[in-house]
Amino acid sequence: MKYRITVLPGDGIGPDVMAEGVKVLQAVGRKFGHSFKLEYELIGAVAIDKTESALPEETLAMCKRSDAVMLAAVGDPRYDDPKLPVHPEDGLLALRKGLGLFANLRPVRVFDELVNASTLKPEVLQGTDFVFVRELTGGVYFAKPKKEWVTSRGRKATDSMTYSEQEIERIIRVGFELARARKKRLVSVDKANVLKSSRLWRQVAVEVSRDYPDVALSHVLVDACAMQLIRTPAMFDVIVTENLFGDILSDEAAQLAGSMGMLPSASLSGIPVAGKRTFGLYEPIHGSAPTIAGKDIANPIATILSVAMMLRHSLALDSEAAAVEQAAESVLKHGYRTDDIMAPESTRVGTRQMGDLIAARI
Ligand code: IPM
Ligand code: MN
Repeated sequence: MKYRITVLPGDGIGPDVMAEGVKVLQAVGRKFGHSFKLEYELIGAVAIDKTESALPEETLAMCKRSDAVMLAAVGDPRYDDPKLPVHPEDGLLALRKGLGLFANLRPVRVFDELVNASTLKPEVLQGTDFVFVRELTGGVYFAKPKKEWVTSRGRKATDSMTYSEQEIERIIRVGFELARARKKRLVSVDKANVLKSSRLWRQVAVEVSRDYPDVALSHVLVDACAMQLIRTPAMFDVIVTENLFGDILSDEAAQLAGSMGMLPSASLSGIPVAGKRTFGLYEPIHGSAPTIAGKDIANPIATILSVAMMLRHSLALDSEAAAVEQAAESVLKHGYRTDDIMAPESTRVGTRQMGDLIAARI
């Protein structure tokens, strides 16, 4: 079968890790007899440099024509100045919105081999295997209005958190569907002791739960969740939450896995159903890490595991996805490590060699 994939390497280490994701995808193509038509487009700072837009129309149009989108990272210190009219990150947000990617899945799994790579104790981490379901096209990120203005008493700025019941319902359903296919425990994270939008969130979660009597729903406040994530991470199965809470908690959780360089993500336009194809965008959760760009030291595993998620969710190629995950695990088992997950007795490898090792095991 032939698949069309839009490839968005973006900024910083983006091109470094994307090259390895593509390498592994091509190895899958050879091994399983698929053909992947890759179409490269611009996003982020590289897009601003060439077109003055962080998301050129051409990029969005190409993504819409494809079966799935692979993205590596956006962000560049040259565009950090808050006074600039456009920032690289705007491109990613516009892409998520433009493609209707409301459901962001961020699995957090502590590989046994990396149980010592975290700053947390191994006995706390053992058995950690959960997934964040982060709402991705609403909340403060897409606040209306979103503005800064000058008053007689100084400057002011606003981004308020708004959610409609439809937006909440569809993301809560994604949480329930995933939990149903896993350990049947769903934790909904909110700040219902303070925020109106969270009170609505909690009510809708309870209403939707009537359709899922087989799944245990509980509610945890976001501050308590931040604490529990590092105290007893293994107790979680599926965590569903709004956009900003999910952004913050997932970086925290990346430290359970030892490094941001280990965590993949899928951003979907619908509820994932096993064996069915859902359009989506796949990206590591880490950023563009400009200081190590082009040096062959970034960890490509998050991007490679994102390729596995793409094979599973957008192309319904489950065995292929499992092959990629097993290949990555096997390389870790054999002691190969990039700098971010380095341990004393391990073999240090660069970005390209890590990609070669994983591709060779497909
Ligand atoms: C992420 C990133 C993005 C976000 C940035 C780059 C806009 O941190 O994917 O988690 O905040 O969503
Ligand atoms: Mn983030």
